[in-house]
Amino acid sequence: MTISSPTAPRRTLVLGIESSCDETAAAVVARDADGRGYILSSAVRSQFKQHELYGGVVPEIAARAHTTCLDHIIAAALAQAHVKLADVDAIAATSGPGLIGGLIVGAITGKALALAAGKPFLAINHLEAHALTCGLTDGLPPPYVMLLVSGGHTQILFVEDVGGYRRLATTIDDALGEAFDKTAKLLGLPMPGGPSVEAAAIDGDPRRFKLPRPMLGRADPNFSFAGLKTAVRHAAEAIAPISDDDVADICASFQAAVCDTVVDRVAQVMRAVVHRFPDDRHRPFVVAGGVAANQVLRAALVGVAETFGYSFHAPPLSLCSDNGAMIAWAGAERHARGQSDGLQAPVRPRWPLDADAAPAKGAGVKA
Ligand code: KG4
Ligand code: ZN
Repeated sequence: MTISSPTAPRRTLVLGIESSCDETAAAVVARDADGRGYILSSAVRSQFKQHELYGGVVPEIAARAHTTCLDHIIAAALAQAHVKLADVDAIAATSGPGLIGGLIVGAITGKALALAAGKPFLAINHLEAHALTCGLTDGLPPPYVMLLVSGGHTQILFVEDVGGYRRLATTIDDALGEAFDKTAKLLGLPMPGGPSVEAAAIDGDPRRFKLPRPMLGRADPNFSFAGLKTAVRHAAEAIAPISDDDVADICASFQAAVCDTVVDRVAQVMRAVVHRFPDDRHRPFVVAGGVAANQVLRAALVGVAETFGYSFHAPPLSLCSDNGAMIAWAGAERHARGQSDGLQAPVRPRWPLDADAAPAKGAGVKA
């Protein structure tokens, strides 16, 4: 349930807590009455060392790790921002989608702090936080087209307003970050997979392996990456044992296939929604989520935005992957609109941004 209150103070300080996957993070952001945002602190602890042995994120280990360090991360965020809990106007915590154990740890901690300090609590949708980050970093208000590419999601959204999201495309199987992670694992590269694949690809030949471009040219703008992942496996098996040069060429070829596919899908949407912008000279395109840190993909997206007359926006690298600032900012945006959530707000492992979006047909559709 969302509760509305009539007034919001001029400058708000919000503490944000993130624990939906394998990053424990907290931050304090300020939001001025004119909508401008400032990061006063941002503390992040990644758990990837704890999961490395298992080749992927283990939910139980993640939840325990959040429990162990969340208090310290929150204390660090408050200390770096030179504020006390009593100084913040609201407390925001990721409440979905994500791994349920971690979500419970973060949300319960946020609620306990809110109750103890007598502050409003905001249950934040992690995808909404990624979607609104460019408001904090670029001062960019909706409407905009957004590509959200993370470990669990691959979507193109039309962001009409804060709280108004239309899903225009989604993956019918794997998320793009997942495809990077699985490719890395298959090639014996360390976690986190995306940055490893990108680093290995730097010296590689993107033309050596003819990998498929799934969905290229299809009328609907959805994504599919499961076939690409399988093609990578076949390519690696066909030349086993693989050398470092082979790994570099496979990674570069994989990235090239990803870029061609994503650019084609994004172009499809850009064409289709061109008329939805009130000002023809101002059509922003935003990319966010962990995979948005990939420089090759970013360059490809700059190109497609230019072709279709969109301005390109992406968060700085440190705010592409999961962080507390984006959660605090989503909280600040909602708080500025007089919203808060009760302490009974549930955690939601699945929490689509656009509840009305028709389900996409595919093997393992992500909401
Ligand atoms: O947004 P995020 O930090 O967490 C989720 O909400 O899922 O995204 C994590 C994903 C992982 O799959 C990771 O491998 C990928 O983002 N990633 C990258 C890069 N940096 C992180 N993928 C490709 N290139 C990168 N440089
Ligand atoms: Zn994320």
